[in-house]
Amino acid sequence: MARKQTDSMKKETAAKQDAVSAAEQETPAVVDAALAEKAAPVEEKPKGVGEKKTAAGKKAVSASKKTLPPKKRQPVRKKEASAGGKSVPAAEKAVQPAGEAAPAAEEAVSAAEKPVAGEEKTAFASEETAPATINMNQPRRSIAFIGSECHPFVKTGGLGDVMYALPRELVRLNCDVRVILPRYACIPKEYQDKMIYRGEFYMDLGQTKRNYYVGIMEYIWDGVVYDFIDNEEFFSTGKPYTNLVDDIPKYCFFSKAALAALNYMDWIPDIIHCHDWQAGLVPVYLRTLFKDSPVGRAKSILTIHNLRFQGIYNIPTIRYWSGLPSEVFRMGALQQDWVDANMLKGGLAYADRITTVSGTYAGEIQTSEYGERLEDHLRYHSGKLRGIVNGIDYGMWNPETDPALAANYGLGNVLDHKMENKLALQKELGLEEDTGKFVIGLISRLTNQKGLDLVNAIIPQVMDGNTQVVVLGTGDKQYEDSFRYYEGAYKGSFSACIQYDEARAHRIYAGADALLVPSRFEPCGLTQLNAMRYGTLPIVRETGGLKDTVEPYNEFTGDGNGFTFDRYDAGLLLDAINRAKTLYFANRYHWDEVVQRDMAKDVSWEQSAKQYKDLYLELTPW
Ligand code: ADP
Ligand code: GLC
Repeated sequence: MARKQTDSMKKETAAKQDAVSAAEQETPAVVDAALAEKAAPVEEKPKGVGEKKTAAGKKAVSASKKTLPPKKRQPVRKKEASAGGKSVPAAEKAVQPAGEAAPAAEEAVSAAEKPVAGEEKTAFASEETAPATINMNQPRRSIAFIGSECHPFVKTGGLGDVMYALPRELVRLNCDVRVILPRYACIPKEYQDKMIYRGEFYMDLGQTKRNYYVGIMEYIWDGVVYDFIDNEEFFSTGKPYTNLVDDIPKYCFFSKAALAALNYMDWIPDIIHCHDWQAGLVPVYLRTLFKDSPVGRAKSILTIHNLRFQGIYNIPTIRYWSGLPSEVFRMGALQQDWVDANMLKGGLAYADRITTVSGTYAGEIQTSEYGERLEDHLRYHSGKLRGIVNGIDYGMWNPETDPALAANYGLGNVLDHKMENKLALQKELGLEEDTGKFVIGLISRLTNQKGLDLVNAIIPQVMDGNTQVVVLGTGDKQYEDSFRYYEGAYKGSFSACIQYDEARAHRIYAGADALLVPSRFEPCGLTQLNAMRYGTLPIVRETGGLKDTVEPYNEFTGDGNGFTFDRYDAGLLLDAINRAKTLYFANRYHWDEVVQRDMAKDVSWEQSAKQYKDLYLELTPW
């Protein structure tokens, strides 16, 4: 099923043909996406979550649970991938020299290296928590989340966790939340089967001179409404991110379709909360093509989860696919330099507020060391920039109920049962089964961001006969290969799991004694939070959210949550690991105190969700 990279280049060749066949279908054809709401009525009466009125006095329509007759996915675009032979529009030609622009090429590589969770085991019974208790004393606001991944449908990293957990927490704070996602073909069937057809329309896109099918499939779960934007042409590849040649058109389409869908559903949120570059154009569309449409009155927030990925490509291509007016292609907005446009940069300029996922990272990204060439732009917009640290979902990450574990445990019995999990993990991975060994875990995308060159450099010194190392991750070949090499070199003591496996990740958090996160940069980082929740001590570099969430262990006072080092230096990492080992082997009583302190630490979403809610209220002060 996976399309080749070149397929998207062929899209336009089929354009005229398909626009004709589209017009011949009985489905509603909508030319102007901003007016999509006028094109088709909302199918059914609002029910459930969205019975409230928005401040603007408009009825917030929520999905009905009634199933409409099932429709085929994207009925009219099937032929496109194979169509060809027509002349290619000039702007499209600009797409073809893939990797021409250096930053784009670099990003394409890093995006492609992200693993996809979609087809792995993702179901955890504990996720099926009881519907949230809603605090009705809180002012009600409606929020549309727009982003490119969300657990358990599709996840390549922490963004997927946040898109899952934060909406659920906001529901508790009396928010009416709708999460808008692409309906990727890789979303597991069990969720595809639960989706309900919500409607469809056609939308123009950029300078393509075509109308594109936009289907809306809906799934309501624990008070959160998930709307999946359906279009087989853009979302049929096996993983969410492939390369920029495909991803730029894909996320131009997605950003525009998400806003058009809100108009279509007649559900106009108070706030549109966008995430990362894939939704970076949303604030730009909102203030340009959509400004006179109903959704145009919403306020927008753009959250940076990772500044390294920005959606940079040459100006003609982004202009072609986005259809945005010339005025946004200026240095203060989308324009990056004389050649390139930058989708995230545009979003940052037009968003009403910018957030990032920790206070330290909010400061760091305004410096040349961490700013990824956007430091000046971010400093210019610093008045609307805020850092709000991530939390983790306590339903999903709970050692007391986690069905993946060999033995469940809580604060009261961690010291007894953690060892059972250690033994089970050693057995599962073919390591020497010995509770006396110090087990270090590493769960990570294997990329340049994560400090893996430091780890590689010191493995021989770490492997002292009393230490075991377990790596779980996929990514750059160089890291995969070196970890495989170490597995061979230290049989029974080193395990390299080059895979994406949610359940195994849970077992490593539970079975390891310490977890390494020596990142070069880390906007927030969730693995250190998961580790602490499971009584596993983090060993982290003091950067971004790692600095904000892990207090260094102080051997004189006994305070702290883990072991830290500051400069990006292999020797300092080794030193931090050795400090951890010393405490573990020489002073287990104090080690165990830290284990219990970490498990008791509040790393939930509760406080951070309140800060987001305050931000929403600041933007909608009625
Ligand atoms: P990032 O978003 O930069 O990848 P985070 O620490 O924010 O880093 O989030 C990573 C998330 O992905 C965590 O939930 C972690 O448990 C999970 N994860 C990373 N790699 C794997 C893997 N190979 N298998 C299972 N889960 C993984
Ligand atoms: C990004 C960052 C990570 C953060 C996650 C969720 O992928 O790399 O640090 O925790 O987003 O916000």
